[in-house]
Amino acid sequence: MNESGRAASRTAVLVCQGRAAADGTAAVGRFADPVAVRLLRDAERVPVDEVRAGTPPKDWRARMTYESVRACVEVAVPRTLAIDDALRSGTTGQLVILGAGLDTRAWRLPDLAGTDVWEVDHPASQQDKRDRLAEAAAIAELPSAARSVRFTPVDFAVDDLGAALDAAGHAPSEPTTWLWEGVIPYLTRAEVRATLATLAGRTAPGSTLVVNYQTPSAKASVGRLLTRLLGSSVTSGEPWRSLWKPGQLAALFAEHGWSVVSDDSLLSLADSLGSPARGRASLRSGRVAVAKAAPRT
Ligand SMILES: C[S@@+](CC[C@H](N)C(=O)[O-])C[C@H]1O[C@@H](n2cnc3c(N)ncnc32)[C@H](O)[C@@H]1O
Repeated sequence: MNESGRAASRTAVLVCQGRAAADGTAAVGRFADPVAVRLLRDAERVPVDEVRAGTPPKDWRARMTYESVRACVEVAVPRTLAIDDALRSGTTGQLVILGAGLDTRAWRLPDLAGTDVWEVDHPASQQDKRDRLAEAAAIAELPSAARSVRFTPVDFAVDDLGAALDAAGHAPSEPTTWLWEGVIPYLTRAEVRATLATLAGRTAPGSTLVVNYQTPSAKASVGRLLTRLLGSSVTSGEPWRSLWKPGQLAALFAEHGWSVVSDDSLLSLADSLGSPARGRASLRSGRVAVAKAAPRT
């Protein structure tokens, strides 16, 4: 818990567990995230190892965690691969990761060797990540794959994102690749709009915006509610605040100078990869969209 009274994101840990469990077990030959497990603490690695081995625990509470991590593998694989592909084809000298959580790209993607990375996140989550990075580096070297990594603490609900990026050396006049993965659902519609308005003032031609968001889905919402009622506290402190239909998001992006060039459901991405897709409703409601900065007139 930091001074703002908010604890570090637990959903960020869950997504990291999903990537760690997927490494070497799902979409083998395409998906790899060997850094994810290094950011996890011992207790967090237990369900990861169980999912990797396919051995669910008997205790029902442990089983709930197991199922959350297993479901997260299904989400993490298509989402990570689609985003990595988009970053590769839209690489610029600047990558800003909004709501970075335990994102490992700055330590994992050689394509970022010529890119400065700004990891923007809620202060409590960012401190937690920095602690984890220090613990991992104390065990074995964890070199950055990016040209630089700059930690930029920002609470999108209260802080001035533009001022924080200015202070951290982001250059608004240079092209930027913006990544917003798994964060939009946790923000209100007003916070999403305000963030896009800030980006609009810092987006040079040649910039790319890559987002992962959730569409409204009665089935996925019921599943989430059930998980919470059955006692999984992972998602209870981080409720979903905004869900967007693809057309609504494309219209909002257009208002802020972005033109959507692709927008795929995680289900179609998983099916084309042949990665596991038992939770079809959940995969159908998650999407990855890529937008390009519309030329200034
Ligand atoms: C589900 S995690 C996703 C993390 C990472 N992008 C990934 O996909 O692995 C959600 C992230 O959003 C961040 N977040 C949620 N609300 C935020 C806010 N108001 N300000 C800054 N970050 C926020 C959390 O700190 C957390 O890192």
